[in-house]
Amino acid sequence: MLGRVTAWLEDRSGLGPETVRTLDRETPKGVGWWDTLGAVALSLIGLLAVTGMCMALYYSPHPDGAYDSTRYLREEVPGGRLLLSLHHYGDSALVIVLGLYVLRSVLIGAYKAPRELVWLLAIVLLNLVLIFGITGHLLPWDQKGYRSTEVRTSFPAGVPIVGPLIRRVLLADDDISALSLTRFYALHTLFLPAVLVPVLALFGYVGWKKGATAPGTRVDEIPTLAGRFSETRAFKNVCASAAVVVFLIGLSSVHPAELEFRYSPADAGYHARPDWYFLSLFQLLNDLKALPLPSWMLALGLPGAVMTVLVLLPWLDRSPERDWRKRKLFVLPVGVGLLVVSLLTVRASALLTLNATPSESLFGHVTAGGENDLSTMQVAAGKAAFQKGSCMGCHKAYAEFSTGSLGPDLTGYGRTTFLTEVKGHPEMHSLSFYDRFARYVRGDVRPKDASGAEKTTMPKYSAQQLSDEEMTAIAAYLSQEPPPHGSAK
Ligand code: HEC
Repeated sequence: MLGRVTAWLEDRSGLGPETVRTLDRETPKGVGWWDTLGAVALSLIGLLAVTGMCMALYYSPHPDGAYDSTRYLREEVPGGRLLLSLHHYGDSALVIVLGLYVLRSVLIGAYKAPRELVWLLAIVLLNLVLIFGITGHLLPWDQKGYRSTEVRTSFPAGVPIVGPLIRRVLLADDDISALSLTRFYALHTLFLPAVLVPVLALFGYVGWKKGATAPGTRVDEIPTLAGRFSETRAFKNVCASAAVVVFLIGLSSVHPAELEFRYSPADAGYHARPDWYFLSLFQLLNDLKALPLPSWMLALGLPGAVMTVLVLLPWLDRSPERDWRKRKLFVLPVGVGLLVVSLLTVRASALLTLNATPSESLFGHVTAGGENDLSTMQVAAGKAAFQKGSCMGCHKAYAEFSTGSLGPDLTGYGRTTFLTEVKGHPEMHSLSFYDRFARYVRGDVRPKDASGAEKTTMPKYSAQQLSDEEMTAIAAYLSQEPPPHGSAK
Protein backbone atom coordinates (compact mmCIF):
# COMPACT_ATOMS: atom_id res chain seq x y z
CA MET A 1 0.00 0.00 0.00
CA LEU A 2 2.67 2.44 1.13
CA GLY A 3 4.81 1.48 -1.87
CA ARG A 4 1.97 2.30 -4.22
CA VAL A 5 1.35 5.68 -2.60
CA THR A 6 5.06 6.58 -2.86
CA ALA A 7 5.20 5.40 -6.47
CA TRP A 8 2.14 7.48 -7.28
CA LEU A 9 3.52 10.55 -5.54
CA GLU A 10 6.83 10.15 -7.33
CA ASP A 11 5.14 9.78 -10.68
CA ARG A 12 2.97 12.85 -10.20
CA SER A 13 5.60 15.09 -8.59
CA GLY A 14 8.88 13.89 -10.01
CA LEU A 15 10.22 13.69 -6.43
CA GLY A 16 10.84 10.49 -4.48
CA PRO A 17 13.33 7.79 -3.57
CA GLU A 18 14.02 6.93 -7.23
CA THR A 19 14.77 10.53 -8.13
CA VAL A 20 17.00 10.90 -5.06
CA ARG A 21 18.87 7.77 -6.14
CA THR A 22 19.65 9.30 -9.52
CA LEU A 23 21.05 12.35 -7.69
CA ASP A 24 23.53 10.19 -5.80
CA ARG A 25 26.93 11.10 -7.18
CA GLU A 26 30.47 9.76 -7.16
CA THR A 27 32.83 11.16 -4.53
CA PRO A 28 36.59 11.47 -5.04
CA LYS A 29 39.09 9.52 -2.96
CA GLY A 30 40.62 11.15 0.11
CA VAL A 31 37.37 12.78 1.26
CA GLY A 32 36.94 12.14 4.97
CA TRP A 33 35.51 13.46 8.22
CA TRP A 34 36.63 17.02 7.58
CA ASP A 35 34.26 17.08 4.63
CA THR A 36 31.30 16.85 6.98
CA LEU A 37 31.74 20.53 8.00
CA GLY A 38 29.30 21.74 5.34
CA ALA A 39 26.65 19.27 6.42
CA VAL A 40 27.22 20.09 10.10
CA ALA A 41 26.79 23.79 9.32
CA LEU A 42 23.49 23.05 7.58
CA SER A 43 22.31 21.00 10.57
CA LEU A 44 23.25 23.79 12.97
CA ILE A 45 21.34 26.32 10.87
CA GLY A 46 18.38 23.95 11.09
CA LEU A 47 18.80 23.75 14.87
CA LEU A 48 18.96 27.55 15.16
CA ALA A 49 15.88 27.94 12.97
CA VAL A 50 13.84 25.47 15.02
CA THR A 51 14.93 26.80 18.43
CA GLY A 52 14.44 30.37 17.18
CA MET A 53 10.92 29.68 15.98
CA CYS A 54 10.04 28.05 19.31
CA MET A 55 11.44 31.02 21.24
CA ALA A 56 9.41 33.40 19.08
CA LEU A 57 6.29 31.74 20.53
CA TYR A 58 7.13 33.39 23.85
CA TYR A 59 9.05 36.51 22.95
CA SER A 60 7.66 40.03 23.10
CA PRO A 61 9.69 42.51 21.04
CA HIS A 62 9.15 45.60 23.16
CA PRO A 63 11.46 47.05 25.83
CA ASP A 64 8.70 46.61 28.43
CA GLY A 65 8.31 42.90 27.66
CA ALA A 66 11.48 41.69 25.98
CA TYR A 67 13.44 40.99 29.14
CA ASP A 68 10.54 39.59 31.14
CA SER A 69 9.39 37.34 28.30
CA THR A 70 12.93 36.00 27.86
CA ARG A 71 13.26 35.43 31.58
CA TYR A 72 9.86 33.77 31.67
CA LEU A 73 10.98 31.42 28.89
CA ARG A 74 14.22 30.67 30.73
CA GLU A 75 12.81 30.23 34.22
CA GLU A 76 9.21 29.09 33.84
CA VAL A 77 8.63 27.34 30.53
CA PRO A 78 9.55 23.61 30.61
CA GLY A 79 12.53 23.15 28.32
CA GLY A 80 12.82 26.90 27.85
CA ARG A 81 16.27 27.10 29.33
CA LEU A 82 17.45 24.33 27.01
CA LEU A 83 15.89 26.10 24.04
CA LEU A 84 17.60 29.39 24.86
CA SER A 85 20.93 27.69 25.55
CA LEU A 86 20.82 25.63 22.35
CA HIS A 87 20.15 28.79 20.36
CA HIS A 88 22.99 30.56 22.18
CA TYR A 89 25.57 27.79 21.84
CA GLY A 90 24.32 26.81 18.39
CA ASP A 91 25.32 30.24 17.12
CA SER A 92 28.83 29.88 18.56
CA ALA A 93 29.14 26.38 17.15
CA LEU A 94 28.03 27.58 13.73
CA VAL A 95 30.67 30.32 13.74
CA ILE A 96 33.31 27.74 14.68
CA VAL A 97 32.16 25.27 12.03
CA LEU A 98 32.02 27.89 9.29
CA GLY A 99 35.40 29.21 10.42
CA LEU A 100 36.86 25.72 10.16
CA TYR A 101 35.20 25.29 6.80
CA VAL A 102 36.84 28.44 5.49
CA LEU A 103 40.20 27.51 7.02
CA ARG A 104 40.13 24.05 5.56
CA SER A 105 39.12 25.40 2.16
CA VAL A 106 42.17 27.64 2.26
CA LEU A 107 44.39 24.76 3.35
CA ILE A 108 43.31 22.32 0.65
CA GLY A 109 42.66 24.95 -2.03
CA ALA A 110 38.98 24.06 -2.19
CA TYR A 111 38.15 27.56 -3.44
CA LYS A 112 39.82 26.81 -6.77
CA ALA A 113 38.04 25.81 -9.96
CA PRO A 114 35.42 24.52 -10.23
CA ARG A 115 34.26 25.51 -6.73
CA GLU A 116 34.78 29.29 -6.73
CA LEU A 117 31.05 29.93 -6.42
CA VAL A 118 30.70 27.53 -3.50
CA TRP A 119 33.51 29.44 -1.81
CA LEU A 120 31.87 32.81 -2.39
CA LEU A 121 28.56 31.52 -1.06
CA ALA A 122 30.32 30.20 2.04
CA ILE A 123 31.78 33.65 2.72
CA VAL A 124 28.36 35.24 2.25
CA LEU A 125 26.96 32.66 4.63
CA LEU A 126 29.60 33.42 7.26
CA ASN A 127 28.80 37.13 7.08
CA LEU A 128 25.09 36.48 7.31
CA VAL A 129 25.62 34.36 10.39
CA LEU A 130 27.65 37.14 12.02
CA ILE A 131 24.90 39.67 11.25
CA PHE A 132 22.34 37.25 12.69
CA GLY A 133 24.41 37.18 15.87
CA ILE A 134 24.68 40.97 16.05
CA THR A 135 20.95 41.53 15.56
CA GLY A 136 20.02 38.70 17.92
CA HIS A 137 22.15 40.06 20.71
CA LEU A 138 19.88 43.00 21.46
CA LEU A 139 16.68 40.96 21.69
CA PRO A 140 16.83 39.83 25.35
CA TRP A 141 17.22 43.50 26.35
CA ASP A 142 19.75 42.59 29.01
CA GLN A 143 22.86 44.51 29.95
CA LYS A 144 25.14 42.53 27.67
CA GLY A 145 23.02 42.87 24.56
CA TYR A 146 22.16 46.50 25.02
CA ARG A 147 25.65 47.67 25.89
CA SER A 148 27.38 45.78 23.10
CA THR A 149 24.84 47.06 20.58
CA GLU A 150 25.63 50.56 21.76
CA VAL A 151 29.32 49.99 21.08
CA ARG A 152 28.73 48.28 17.73
CA THR A 153 26.51 50.97 16.31
CA SER A 154 28.97 53.62 17.46
CA PHE A 155 31.47 52.45 14.81
CA PRO A 156 29.43 53.13 11.67
CA ALA A 157 28.20 56.30 13.39
CA GLY A 158 31.80 57.52 13.44
CA VAL A 159 32.16 57.46 9.67
CA PRO A 160 32.37 61.06 8.44
CA ILE A 161 29.34 62.60 6.72
CA VAL A 162 27.19 59.47 6.29
CA GLY A 163 27.84 58.04 9.79
CA PRO A 164 24.91 59.57 11.66
CA LEU A 165 22.59 58.59 8.83
CA ILE A 166 23.79 54.96 8.89
CA ARG A 167 23.29 54.79 12.63
CA ARG A 168 19.81 56.21 12.29
CA VAL A 169 18.91 53.67 9.64
CA LEU A 170 20.26 50.85 11.81
CA LEU A 171 18.55 51.98 15.00
CA ALA A 172 15.42 53.56 13.49
CA ASP A 173 16.00 56.30 16.06
CA ASP A 174 18.75 58.51 17.42
CA ASP A 175 19.43 56.05 20.22
CA ILE A 176 18.61 52.45 21.01
CA SER A 177 14.88 52.52 21.69
CA ALA A 178 11.68 50.55 21.24
CA LEU A 179 11.94 51.29 17.51
CA SER A 180 15.43 49.81 17.35
CA LEU A 181 14.29 46.64 19.08
CA THR A 182 11.44 46.23 16.58
CA ARG A 183 13.87 46.82 13.75
CA PHE A 184 16.43 44.30 15.02
CA TYR A 185 13.70 41.76 15.66
CA ALA A 186 12.30 42.14 12.13
CA LEU A 187 15.80 41.86 10.66
CA HIS A 188 16.66 38.84 12.77
CA THR A 189 13.47 36.89 12.15
CA LEU A 190 12.19 38.06 8.74
CA PHE A 191 14.72 39.82 6.55
CA LEU A 192 17.84 37.82 7.32
CA PRO A 193 16.13 34.42 6.98
CA ALA A 194 14.68 35.62 3.68
CA VAL A 195 18.22 36.22 2.46
CA LEU A 196 19.65 33.16 4.15
CA VAL A 197 17.29 30.61 2.63
CA PRO A 198 18.14 31.28 -1.05
CA VAL A 199 21.86 31.57 -0.21
CA LEU A 200 21.68 28.23 1.58
CA ALA A 201 19.78 26.62 -1.28
CA LEU A 202 22.35 27.86 -3.78
CA PHE A 203 25.22 26.82 -1.53
CA GLY A 204 23.79 23.32 -1.26
CA TYR A 205 22.94 23.06 -4.94
CA VAL A 206 26.21 24.39 -6.39
CA GLY A 207 28.26 22.52 -3.78
CA TRP A 208 26.48 19.33 -4.71
CA LYS A 209 26.85 19.89 -8.45
CA LYS A 210 30.56 20.64 -8.24
CA GLY A 211 31.30 17.81 -5.85
CA ALA A 212 33.85 17.58 -3.05
CA THR A 213 37.48 18.56 -3.52
CA ALA A 214 39.97 15.71 -3.46
CA PRO A 215 42.77 16.97 -1.17
CA GLY A 216 46.18 17.18 -2.83
CA THR A 217 44.98 17.00 -6.46
CA ARG A 218 45.77 19.65 -9.04
CA VAL A 219 42.94 21.62 -10.60
CA ASP A 220 43.47 19.95 -13.97
CA GLU A 221 43.79 16.47 -12.52
CA ILE A 222 40.90 14.01 -12.65
CA PRO A 223 40.59 12.53 -9.15
CA THR A 224 40.22 8.84 -8.47
CA LEU A 225 36.72 8.00 -7.35
CA ALA A 226 35.94 6.28 -4.09
CA GLY A 227 32.28 5.38 -4.49
CA ARG A 228 28.86 6.95 -4.33
CA PHE A 229 27.91 9.67 -1.85
CA SER A 230 25.32 7.46 -0.19
CA GLU A 231 27.98 4.82 0.50
CA THR A 232 30.93 7.01 1.44
CA ARG A 233 29.74 10.28 2.92
CA ALA A 234 26.08 10.24 3.88
CA PHE A 235 26.66 8.24 7.06
CA LYS A 236 29.58 10.39 8.15
CA ASN A 237 27.56 13.56 7.62
CA VAL A 238 24.70 12.25 9.73
CA CYS A 239 27.08 11.03 12.46
CA ALA A 240 29.01 14.31 12.64
CA SER A 241 25.83 16.42 12.73
CA ALA A 242 24.27 14.22 15.38
CA ALA A 243 27.44 14.31 17.47
CA VAL A 244 27.55 18.11 17.40
CA VAL A 245 23.87 18.44 18.35
CA VAL A 246 24.23 15.90 21.18
CA PHE A 247 27.28 17.78 22.44
CA LEU A 248 25.34 21.07 22.40
CA ILE A 249 22.45 19.50 24.32
CA GLY A 250 24.95 18.25 26.91
CA LEU A 251 26.65 21.61 27.20
CA SER A 252 23.33 23.45 27.46
CA SER A 253 22.18 21.16 30.25
CA VAL A 254 25.40 21.37 32.27
CA HIS A 255 26.07 25.04 31.65
CA PRO A 256 22.91 26.87 30.52
CA ALA A 257 23.34 30.20 28.77
CA GLU A 258 23.08 33.07 31.21
CA LEU A 259 20.58 35.87 30.89
CA GLU A 260 22.18 38.97 32.37
CA PHE A 261 20.34 41.61 34.37
CA ARG A 262 17.81 43.78 32.63
CA TYR A 263 19.40 46.72 30.84
CA SER A 264 19.98 49.49 33.34
CA PRO A 265 21.51 52.83 32.44
CA ALA A 266 22.23 53.32 36.15
CA ASP A 267 25.01 50.73 36.17
CA ALA A 268 27.83 53.01 35.10
CA GLY A 269 30.54 50.48 35.99
CA TYR A 270 29.33 47.88 33.51
CA HIS A 271 31.94 47.05 30.90
CA ALA A 272 30.47 46.28 27.47
CA ARG A 273 31.99 43.26 25.78
CA PRO A 274 31.31 41.35 22.58
CA ASP A 275 30.78 37.66 21.93
CA TRP A 276 33.94 35.58 22.14
CA TYR A 277 34.36 35.56 18.37
CA PHE A 278 34.70 39.33 18.28
CA LEU A 279 36.96 39.50 21.34
CA SER A 280 40.17 39.67 19.28
CA LEU A 281 38.90 42.69 17.37
CA PHE A 282 37.71 44.26 20.64
CA GLN A 283 41.17 43.78 22.17
CA LEU A 284 42.95 45.11 19.10
CA LEU A 285 40.80 48.25 19.19
CA ASN A 286 41.63 48.67 22.87
CA ASP A 287 45.34 48.12 22.32
CA LEU A 288 45.50 50.54 19.42
CA LYS A 289 43.51 53.26 21.15
CA ALA A 290 46.63 55.41 21.34
CA LEU A 291 46.92 55.55 17.55
CA PRO A 292 45.52 58.73 16.03
CA LEU A 293 43.03 56.69 14.00
CA PRO A 294 39.27 57.00 14.42
CA SER A 295 37.97 53.72 15.88
CA TRP A 296 35.57 53.06 13.01
CA MET A 297 38.49 52.78 10.61
CA LEU A 298 39.85 49.71 12.37
CA ALA A 299 36.55 48.31 13.57
CA LEU A 300 35.01 48.30 10.11
CA GLY A 301 38.09 48.45 7.90
CA LEU A 302 39.90 45.43 9.27
CA PRO A 303 37.07 42.87 8.98
CA GLY A 304 36.19 44.48 5.65
CA ALA A 305 39.74 43.99 4.36
CA VAL A 306 39.86 40.38 5.54
CA MET A 307 36.55 39.59 3.86
CA THR A 308 37.66 41.30 0.64
CA VAL A 309 40.84 39.23 0.49
CA LEU A 310 38.83 36.06 1.13
CA VAL A 311 36.38 36.91 -1.64
CA LEU A 312 39.23 37.58 -4.10
CA LEU A 313 41.26 34.55 -3.07
CA PRO A 314 40.31 32.29 -6.02
CA TRP A 315 41.56 35.02 -8.39
CA LEU A 316 44.63 35.95 -6.35
CA ASP A 317 45.82 32.36 -6.07
CA ARG A 318 45.69 31.27 -9.69
CA SER A 319 48.11 28.34 -9.73
CA PRO A 320 46.56 24.94 -10.48
CA GLU A 321 48.17 23.51 -7.32
CA ARG A 322 46.00 22.57 -4.36
CA ASP A 323 48.72 21.10 -2.16
CA TRP A 324 49.38 23.66 0.62
CA ARG A 325 53.15 23.05 0.47
CA LYS A 326 53.12 24.54 -3.01
CA ARG A 327 50.93 27.47 -1.97
CA LYS A 328 52.79 28.74 1.10
CA LEU A 329 52.31 32.36 0.03
CA PHE A 330 48.58 32.00 0.70
CA VAL A 331 48.52 29.47 3.50
CA LEU A 332 51.16 31.05 5.75
CA PRO A 333 49.51 34.50 6.14
CA VAL A 334 46.29 32.74 7.13
CA GLY A 335 48.24 30.74 9.73
CA VAL A 336 49.86 33.88 11.11
CA GLY A 337 46.52 35.69 11.14
CA LEU A 338 44.96 32.85 13.08
CA LEU A 339 47.77 32.93 15.62
CA VAL A 340 47.38 36.70 16.14
CA VAL A 341 43.61 36.32 16.56
CA SER A 342 44.10 33.54 19.12
CA LEU A 343 46.65 35.53 21.10
CA LEU A 344 44.43 38.61 21.12
CA THR A 345 41.46 36.52 22.25
CA VAL A 346 43.44 35.01 25.13
CA ARG A 347 44.74 38.44 26.10
CA ALA A 348 41.23 39.89 26.00
CA SER A 349 39.78 37.13 28.19
CA ALA A 350 42.57 37.62 30.71
CA LEU A 351 41.94 41.37 30.90
CA LEU A 352 38.12 41.37 31.05
CA THR A 353 36.80 43.01 34.20
CA LEU A 354 34.08 41.36 36.20
CA ASN A 355 30.53 42.49 35.45
CA ALA A 356 27.56 42.06 37.75
CA THR A 357 25.51 39.23 36.29
CA PRO A 358 22.87 37.10 38.03
CA SER A 359 25.54 34.57 38.97
CA GLU A 360 28.32 37.09 39.56
CA SER A 361 26.88 39.75 41.87
CA LEU A 362 25.55 40.38 45.38
CA PHE A 363 22.27 38.97 44.08
CA GLY A 364 24.11 35.83 42.92
CA HIS A 365 25.76 35.52 46.33
CA VAL A 366 22.51 35.57 48.29
CA THR A 367 20.54 33.46 45.79
CA ALA A 368 23.15 30.73 45.04
CA GLY A 369 24.22 32.02 41.67
CA GLY A 370 20.83 33.47 40.83
CA GLU A 371 19.26 30.00 40.77
CA ASN A 372 16.91 30.67 43.71
CA ASP A 373 14.61 33.58 44.44
CA LEU A 374 15.52 36.16 47.05
CA SER A 375 14.37 35.02 50.48
CA THR A 376 11.70 37.40 51.74
CA MET A 377 12.78 36.75 55.33
CA GLN A 378 16.33 37.68 54.54
CA VAL A 379 15.21 40.79 52.67
CA ALA A 380 13.13 41.85 55.69
CA ALA A 381 16.06 41.20 58.03
CA GLY A 382 18.24 43.23 55.69
CA LYS A 383 15.87 46.16 55.79
CA ALA A 384 15.94 46.04 59.58
CA ALA A 385 19.75 45.91 59.63
CA PHE A 386 19.88 48.78 57.16
CA GLN A 387 17.92 50.82 59.70
CA LYS A 388 19.89 49.52 62.67
CA GLY A 389 23.17 50.61 61.07
CA SER A 390 21.62 53.98 60.17
CA CYS A 391 22.64 53.39 56.57
CA MET A 392 19.52 55.32 55.54
CA GLY A 393 20.93 58.40 57.23
CA CYS A 394 23.24 58.79 54.27
CA HIS A 395 21.94 56.39 51.57
CA LYS A 396 18.67 56.20 49.68
CA ALA A 397 17.26 52.72 49.07
CA TYR A 398 14.17 51.94 47.04
CA ALA A 399 11.15 54.06 47.96
CA GLU A 400 11.54 53.06 51.61
CA PHE A 401 14.45 55.26 52.55
CA SER A 402 14.51 58.43 50.55
CA THR A 403 16.18 61.13 52.60
CA GLY A 404 19.89 60.13 52.92
CA SER A 405 21.92 61.96 50.34
CA LEU A 406 25.52 61.96 51.62
CA GLY A 407 26.34 58.62 49.97
CA PRO A 408 25.23 57.06 46.68
CA ASP A 409 21.68 55.73 46.18
CA LEU A 410 21.86 52.00 46.93
CA THR A 411 18.59 51.00 45.21
CA GLY A 412 19.30 47.80 43.26
CA TYR A 413 22.96 48.02 44.26
CA GLY A 414 23.30 44.22 44.45
CA ARG A 415 22.56 43.95 40.73
CA THR A 416 25.07 46.46 39.52
CA THR A 417 28.80 46.52 38.91
CA PHE A 418 30.50 48.43 41.69
CA LEU A 419 33.87 49.14 43.25
CA THR A 420 35.83 47.48 40.43
CA GLU A 421 38.49 50.10 40.98
CA VAL A 422 39.26 51.59 44.35
CA LYS A 423 42.27 53.83 44.47
CA GLY A 424 45.11 52.18 46.37
CA HIS A 425 43.42 48.75 46.26
CA PRO A 426 44.37 46.90 43.07
CA GLU A 427 43.11 43.62 44.58
CA MET A 428 39.45 44.74 44.22
CA HIS A 429 39.58 43.66 40.62
CA SER A 430 39.85 39.99 41.55
CA LEU A 431 37.45 39.91 44.51
CA SER A 432 33.89 38.65 44.37
CA PHE A 433 31.16 41.26 44.59
CA TYR A 434 30.20 40.14 48.09
CA ASP A 435 33.77 40.53 49.33
CA ARG A 436 33.98 44.00 47.86
CA PHE A 437 30.76 44.99 49.54
CA ALA A 438 31.64 43.46 52.90
CA ARG A 439 35.18 44.86 53.00
CA TYR A 440 33.93 48.28 52.06
CA VAL A 441 31.26 48.38 54.74
CA ARG A 442 33.63 46.92 57.35
CA GLY A 443 36.11 49.62 56.40
CA ASP A 444 38.96 47.32 55.26
CA VAL A 445 38.88 48.92 51.83
CA ARG A 446 38.31 52.58 51.33
CA PRO A 447 39.48 54.92 48.60
CA LYS A 448 42.60 56.93 49.36
CA ASP A 449 43.43 60.47 48.35
CA ALA A 450 46.63 61.70 46.70
CA SER A 451 48.58 61.72 49.98
CA GLY A 452 47.61 58.09 50.69
CA ALA A 453 45.21 58.99 53.49
CA GLU A 454 41.74 57.40 53.49
CA LYS A 455 39.09 59.91 52.56
CA THR A 456 36.13 58.35 54.25
CA THR A 457 32.96 59.94 55.42
CA MET A 458 31.19 56.61 55.82
CA PRO A 459 31.60 54.96 59.23
CA LYS A 460 33.38 51.60 59.51
CA TYR A 461 31.08 48.86 60.72
CA SER A 462 32.75 46.31 63.01
CA ALA A 463 31.32 42.82 63.51
CA GLN A 464 29.91 44.00 66.86
CA GLN A 465 27.88 46.73 65.18
CA LEU A 466 26.70 44.56 62.28
CA SER A 467 27.07 40.76 62.33
CA ASP A 468 28.00 38.78 59.22
CA GLU A 469 24.39 37.58 58.98
CA GLU A 470 23.17 41.16 59.06
CA MET A 471 25.67 42.09 56.34
CA THR A 472 24.43 39.24 54.15
CA ALA A 473 20.84 40.27 54.84
CA ILE A 474 21.64 43.84 53.76
CA ALA A 475 23.14 42.39 50.57
CA ALA A 476 19.84 40.56 49.96
CA TYR A 477 17.85 43.70 50.72
CA LEU A 478 19.88 45.70 48.21
CA SER A 479 19.55 42.94 45.58
CA GLN A 480 15.85 43.48 44.96
CA GLU A 481 15.07 44.60 41.48
CA PRO A 482 14.85 48.39 41.25
CA PRO A 483 11.49 49.72 40.14
CA PRO A 484 11.38 50.11 36.33
CA HIS A 485 12.49 53.53 35.23
CA GLY A 486 11.49 54.60 31.76
CA SER A 487 12.71 51.38 30.17
CA ALA A 488 11.14 52.36 26.85
CA LYS A 489 13.27 55.51 26.92
C1 HEC B 1 27.60 58.92 57.53
C2 HEC B 1 27.04 58.61 56.27
C3 HEC B 1 27.01 57.13 55.83
C4 HEC B 1 26.46 56.06 56.49
C5 HEC B 1 25.79 56.04 57.83
C6 HEC B 1 26.64 54.92 55.62
N1 HEC B 1 27.28 55.30 54.50
FE1 HEC B 1 27.78 54.11 52.94
N2 HEC B 1 28.70 55.63 52.03
C7 HEC B 1 28.72 56.94 52.46
C8 HEC B 1 29.46 57.77 51.56
C9 HEC B 1 29.69 59.26 51.66
C10 HEC B 1 29.92 56.91 50.55
C11 HEC B 1 30.74 57.31 49.33
C12 HEC B 1 32.25 57.24 49.41
C13 HEC B 1 32.96 57.25 50.74
O1 HEC B 1 33.01 58.31 51.39
O2 HEC B 1 33.55 56.23 51.12
C14 HEC B 1 29.41 55.58 50.87
C15 HEC B 1 29.63 54.44 50.10
C16 HEC B 1 29.03 53.21 50.34
C17 HEC B 1 29.19 52.07 49.50
C18 HEC B 1 30.04 52.00 48.24
C19 HEC B 1 29.30 52.52 47.06
C20 HEC B 1 30.10 52.42 45.79
O3 HEC B 1 29.98 51.41 45.10
O4 HEC B 1 30.84 53.37 45.51
C21 HEC B 1 28.46 51.07 50.05
C22 HEC B 1 28.29 49.65 49.52
C23 HEC B 1 27.85 51.59 51.23
N3 HEC B 1 28.22 52.89 51.38
C24 HEC B 1 27.02 50.86 52.06
C25 HEC B 1 26.58 51.33 53.29
C26 HEC B 1 25.85 50.53 54.23
C27 HEC B 1 25.40 49.09 53.98
C28 HEC B 1 25.63 51.29 55.30
C29 HEC B 1 24.95 50.90 56.60
C30 HEC B 1 25.44 49.71 57.23
C31 HEC B 1 26.22 52.59 55.05
N4 HEC B 1 26.78 52.56 53.81
C32 HEC B 1 26.19 53.65 55.92
C33 HEC B 1 28.13 57.42 53.60
C34 HEC B 1 27.52 56.65 54.58
